Amino acid sequence: MPDSKVTINAQTQVYGIFGSPVRHSLSPLIHNSLFSELKINAVYEAFEVEKEKLGLAFEAVRALGIRGVNVTIPHKEAAMNFVDEVPEDVDRCVGALNTVVNRNGKLFGYNTDGKGFLTALREELSFNPEGKTVLVLGAGGAARGVAFSAAHAHAERIFIYNRTHDRAVGLGGYLEEYFPEIEIEVLENLEALKKEKIDLVVNATSCGMHASDPSPIDLHLLSAKANVYDLIYAPAETPFLKLAKKCGLPCANGLGMLAAQAAVSFELWTGKREGVRERMLEVLKACRF
Ligand code: ATR
Repeated sequence: MPDSKVTINAQTQVYGIFGSPVRHSLSPLIHNSLFSELKINAVYEAFEVEKEKLGLAFEAVRALGIRGVNVTIPHKEAAMNFVDEVPEDVDRCVGALNTVVNRNGKLFGYNTDGKGFLTALREELSFNPEGKTVLVLGAGGAARGVAFSAAHAHAERIFIYNRTHDRAVGLGGYLEEYFPEIEIEVLENLEALKKEKIDLVVNATSCGMHASDPSPIDLHLLSAKANVYDLIYAPAETPFLKLAKKCGLPCANGLGMLAAQAAVSFELWTGKREGVRERMLEVLKACRF
């Protein structure tokens, strides 16, 4: 159980998350648990921020000396316009932020989703994309983050498939610009996979969040044994993951990525790393959502 000895006083540092909707967010739970356990005098709050108020919210960060924020749907891309610097190349390429650090009034933007994704693959599936073939399902913001991380981690080939083909073509073109050395293939239909050897399949669509959703792919189409990762963590087992288990494929849901991306944000803010991701994952697994 988290230790609740830290009391809020005049020294307490404020952190938070900007999103809309944001009331379902698990970030306050995991960050506050770790602040408390590590006896850091800080609080983390969820702020419902509408699109047209994002600029004002960032002004508040500066005016009030809020030490750091996460940004989530629908602000990840727009947040790029309100920070002073995005230090890492890969974050600039992805064009979306999820973490802001206030260093003496200057705001630095980062995207910890990619690192979180790669950590989760390593920790939960012992998988490293280097030299591998990755199939990304989806072409929205989440898929873009996944595809860029896989490319940045030196995947050899990346296949993209999306329900709306034009969006997949857009993402493929964008990736090709940044990573001309990687073979990018945009699939019009999944039948083409029958003759390919895929090492990792990632569900970066929102298909699976609702009880009536099917699996976004029939995994029987794959000719060889692939690792399977679903970014969705609620429900814990989507039809996609059920199918992966039935096919005997190594698989994991998005909880590990949620903990890992939060741990990278936490380290950017506090400098603390040791055991943080593991503890955040335990906190998440212990909570019902
Ligand atoms: P995010 O930023 O979380 O990626 P998004 O930009 O709305 O959110 O993207 C959602 C993704 O899930 C898209 O790739 C979407 O496909 P479309 O581009 O065709 O809309 C995909 N998606 C959502 N529901 C789906 C479903 N039932 N079957 C397959 N793909 C689905």
